[in-house]
Amino acid sequence: MKTKGRRRSTGIPRVIAIDGPAAAGKSTVGREIGARLGYPFLDTGAIYRAMTWTALHRGVDLSDEDALSDLAASLSIDVGPPNLDSIEPSTIFVDEVDVTRFLRQPEVEAAVSLVSRVAGVRKALVRVQRELAGRNAVVMAGRDIGTVVLPKADLKVYLVASVEERARRRFAELSALGLDVTEEEVLHDLRRRDRIDSERSVSPLRPAEDAIVLDTDGLTLEEVVQRLAELVEGTT
Ligand code: DC
Repeated sequence: MKTKGRRRSTGIPRVIAIDGPAAAGKSTVGREIGARLGYPFLDTGAIYRAMTWTALHRGVDLSDEDALSDLAASLSIDVGPPNLDSIEPSTIFVDEVDVTRFLRQPEVEAAVSLVSRVAGVRKALVRVQRELAGRNAVVMAGRDIGTVVLPKADLKVYLVASVEERARRRFAELSALGLDVTEEEVLHDLRRRDRIDSERSVSPLRPAEDAIVLDTDGLTLEEVVQRLAELVEGTT
């Protein structure tokens, strides 16, 4: 595994940012590290998904950036502990309604990158994410946590893996959930989302200058967790 970048502080980091492209393992790894340290874990992709589902559900025109921005600014988004029967690391509430079960719907999957490139949407949702992070220890995963949301994080990790490897992992997850998709479709969708997430003008997907880049190709998620645990403990 290739690793580059540097650790920002000495001692056990309290604020940990995990960024990277779709299906790089951020959520699985972040949840496990959070559990080991006793820190809450927040997957910010779920917040963009919740916003996207709400926009679809309320019939907002996804090409109308003002309408999307107004909607994002008007929503009350909150996060709670996971439901026992859910694979999601948290329960997401929009205006006090639990929307967690809708977050992986194909319509949301198809639209979320488009909704999240709108500047007004990002502005409103970054504010929500900072409020949720509070002043306590936290592990947060997303695309722009180290660059924009929590630029002072004590440890920033950027997970990378080839798109083929990520497609294999995501396909296995979706198949296990009983969803009817092919690996080809998953690969195609990841390529599309990588392109939109990296090419958008506001907060594009990229590692922070002080992020440690972990190339996870060929590693199991347990091995990635182990590597991250070593970074947290400062043993590397
Ligand atoms: O991590 P995920 O696949 O659940 O994220 C869904 C989408 O949300 C992703 O395509 C881009 C967007 N996103 C973002 O723009 N910024 C974040 N911090 C997290 C997710």
